[in-house]
Amino acid sequence: MTKLSVASLQAMKRAGERIACLTCYDASFARLLDESGIDVLLVGDSLGMVLQGWETTLKVKLADMIYHCSHVSRGIERALVLGDMPFMSYASPSQALHNAARLMSEGGAQAVKLEGGAWLAETVRLLSERGVPVCAHLGLLPQSIHKLGGYRVQGRGAEAAAQIQEDARILKEAGAVMLVLECVPRTLAAEITAALEEIPVIGIGAGSGCDGQVLVLYDMLGISGKSPKFSKDFLASHTTIKAAIEDYARSVKAGEFPAQEHGFD
Ligand code: KIV
Repeated sequence: MTKLSVASLQAMKRAGERIACLTCYDASFARLLDESGIDVLLVGDSLGMVLQGWETTLKVKLADMIYHCSHVSRGIERALVLGDMPFMSYASPSQALHNAARLMSEGGAQAVKLEGGAWLAETVRLLSERGVPVCAHLGLLPQSIHKLGGYRVQGRGAEAAAQIQEDARILKEAGAVMLVLECVPRTLAAEITAALEEIPVIGIGAGSGCDGQVLVLYDMLGISGKSPKFSKDFLASHTTIKAAIEDYARSVKAGEFPAQEHGFD
């Protein structure tokens, strides 16, 4: 089976094939997701909440991310492994380069994800020049939760929307190869997806107009205890986890998930 790369995901965007992504934190789920047609396994720092039980993602350490990435990347054949850089592990470009290199060489991540806007342009440029594919993350930034004041929809209103559009453009120009858009109005997400012609945009709570979708695995299995409005419990209508994950992959590819009720105006 051919291993997916960033170039494969960009080709999927060009071909209009939607990208199915889920978070993943261990080897057993990695194998299951890989066999079920999930294209991208995001080792998200959401593990701080769903695995470690913290209220936020801020407690997650680089060592945690390397540990979980190394388990996920072991034994999968097809999916691309995307690793989250945790809070304060990329506060300066040189720190980001050092830590991203560890996430890739020790953890086996094929690309790294960073939360933040235009201030990250220099970092994205440096990483990209040194061979580290970067996925930007805009909209709701869980690592900035204390600044944002809550888990709320971002980019509502002309000024806020223009800011996210500008951040996306700048990060793309700096070399970002992918973008995650979290909790933004569906029209804004669709506009950004169209504007970023070459790079795939993966939405979470961003409507159906993105190139792909991501959910937190434990939310879509209905076991996280507090599933957000934009998620869906796929296990509720299936008897096995594998069937639920296959249904998620199929629904994303068919454009059936997310439905209208999973998005925001
Ligand atoms: O950490 C994570 O799971 C994420 C997704 C919510 C996109 O970044």
